[in-house]
Amino acid sequence: MYWLELSGEEDAFAAHEAASAAAGVELLAPGIARAGAAGPAVERLAYTRAAHEAIGRTEADVDAAVALLEAAGIDREGTVAVRARDVRGSSGVSTSDAERALGQVLVDRGFEVDLDAPDHTLRALFAAGRRPDHDAVAGADGEESSVAALGWVAREGRRDFAPKPTDRPFFQPGSMAPADARAYANLAGAAPGRRFLDPMCGTGGLAVEAGLVGAEAVGTDAQAKMVRGTRRNLREYVGGSDDPAWHVARGDATALPLRDDAVDGVAFDAPYGRQSKIATHDLADLVAGALAETARVAPQAVLVADRDWRSEARGAGWRVDATFERRVHRSLTRHVLTLTRE
Ligand SMILES: C[S@@+](CC[C@H](N)C(=O)[O-])C[C@H]1O[C@@H](n2cnc3c(N)ncnc32)[C@H](O)[C@@H]1O
Repeated sequence: MYWLELSGEEDAFAAHEAASAAAGVELLAPGIARAGAAGPAVERLAYTRAAHEAIGRTEADVDAAVALLEAAGIDREGTVAVRARDVRGSSGVSTSDAERALGQVLVDRGFEVDLDAPDHTLRALFAAGRRPDHDAVAGADGEESSVAALGWVAREGRRDFAPKPTDRPFFQPGSMAPADARAYANLAGAAPGRRFLDPMCGTGGLAVEAGLVGAEAVGTDAQAKMVRGTRRNLREYVGGSDDPAWHVARGDATALPLRDDAVDGVAFDAPYGRQSKIATHDLADLVAGALAETARVAPQAVLVADRDWRSEARGAGWRVDATFERRVHRSLTRHVLTLTRE
């Protein structure tokens, strides 16, 4: 078993993303989830900071953590360091007290401490507070929690996202933050050996993150300017155009130039009514058409938009697995739907 340390402020969303790379994800406390298995794919997650091979867990209290470690079997050799974290300051536990006391347990058991280059790092995560309430996420039950999770650091997030949109060769207002683009690409199943599509690729934020996690990225956009711009960004961050790792073409998302089941997953950020000149009813037709086309070419999808397109998604043949409302700033909340073809 593994303990996942989640990042960001939205644990239900982070846990949902983590489930794209780890098995049996369940929220335990603010910023802490458990997983049955956590392979290398965990390192490419946007909102998981690290995965730890579990030693055990108890309530968020230093003495309880010390008792747990004293009783635990330790099948490791070499030098150690202890790193404690009071996740989001939620538990009020003194991390220096925790590090000192847990380190002493390891010293008493014959381990040598090396704070600079330890063979093994023991992490103690302390968190307390209410878990979020979300019906699509295991453990997100709105209940109070108090957890100290002790484990050996097994995998740390690489956080190898592309630079922020304004620092890229091609930028347009409305581009998505890199960690969010990474999370949506992951939720759409982007991974080595998988083909990913963004049918409204804009500046290519989603396609770039899909490419960075090793997927073959395909982008289309109705505007030639966006097609050129996405190519520039992909060339900069993913690789040369002679590399078959990505393809970008001008195309209409409601009539994609792709055969049935051409890709493994889709994610797209639909145009926002308030930004574009598209009238509301035309926007609904556009999104419904794009949803129908994406259901033809892929078995799973993520739709990001400034409003709830759930009924259009169902009408286009998708089952809605989960919905999230993610506040971007005062006047923009992104509605995220994760979809599986019926
Ligand atoms: C919200 S933006 C996408 C932003 C993108 N995620 C990014 O990070 O830059 C929506 C994009 O949809 C494109 N678009 C609008 N109607 C389209 C259509 N019928 N087919 C394909 N693309 C379309 C627009 O040109 C625009 O680039």
